[in-house]
Amino acid sequence: MKGTRVGIVGAGNVGATVAYSLAMKGVCHEIILRDNNMDRAKGMALDMSQAANAARSHTVVSVANDMSELTDCDVVVITAGSPRKPGMSRDDLLMINANIMKEVVLDIKKYSPNAVLVPVSNPLDAMVYTAIKVSGWDSNRVVGMAGILDSARMAHFIYEKLKQKDPKGVGYAAGQIRASVIGGHGDDMVPLPKYSTIAGVALADLLTDDEIEEIVEKTRHGGAEIVGYLKTGSAYYAPAKATSLMVEAIVKNTKQIFPCAVQLGDEYGEEYKGIVNGVPVVLGAGGAERVIPIELNKKQSEQFKKSIDSVKELIDTLENNKFFN
Ligand code: LAC
Repeated sequence: MKGTRVGIVGAGNVGATVAYSLAMKGVCHEIILRDNNMDRAKGMALDMSQAANAARSHTVVSVANDMSELTDCDVVVITAGSPRKPGMSRDDLLMINANIMKEVVLDIKKYSPNAVLVPVSNPLDAMVYTAIKVSGWDSNRVVGMAGILDSARMAHFIYEKLKQKDPKGVGYAAGQIRASVIGGHGDDMVPLPKYSTIAGVALADLLTDDEIEEIVEKTRHGGAEIVGYLKTGSAYYAPAKATSLMVEAIVKNTKQIFPCAVQLGDEYGEEYKGIVNGVPVVLGAGGAERVIPIELNKKQSEQFKKSIDSVKELIDTLENNKFFN
């Protein structure tokens, strides 16, 4: 039955919070958590199922004792992997997490052969590439979470700047800011101020070029800033909410457009074919059902190329290490 069963591999802070968001909203009927720490997963599953009852939601959360119990899922979110430690870049995690991703995807392929995969582990774009290669599935069935998160961060930094600028320090338009970020989920991501608005008002009408540049820089390092505060791992509320929006679009087949990490065809140029990067896609039951090409100006194109090159470097590292042989 389509649209009822969501698997979550890795029930740490991000995975658990994805499950909680989905359960509270009743997005799907079943959520199955898989984690190496079984007792923690069992405790959380019970706690969340009880929370769902309090919320009058039909979602039931259970655990899989091993991957063979993660059967027939419609969507599997993969957060498994080593998290970032302070001072560590997402890329430092490459080989460690590629091995974990490979193992997880081979199991999902066996036990949930019709699923759409939503990788969240870092370095995100390289993990999406790994999942596509290892599964051998059509690449539209593998959609990485990053763009919604990065855009949400940018939106918040726009809010903060507006508040800081206001003579009385009054903030406004929270929740009404639509920021746009494409590119890879790394320091070379591509925030697009020209495509961002404050409830339809252009950023440039309310902010100076310098202020916008400051927001762009903060957005690029938005994840690291939180790692710096939390110390024991990455951000999780915003990453989890972003992931749950994607899961909802897939299980409900909404055809909403979200920025996600996908393998490109020739939408952004023949030269980028096969590389994974963040772009707006249409999400539905088939995963990323369509890539939306956006017209980039010279500066944006240069930034996009730089972002593609960083992802390419990671993919080359994997390929040169004969990771997929
Ligand atoms: C972040 C991690 C989840 O950006 O990638 O916070």
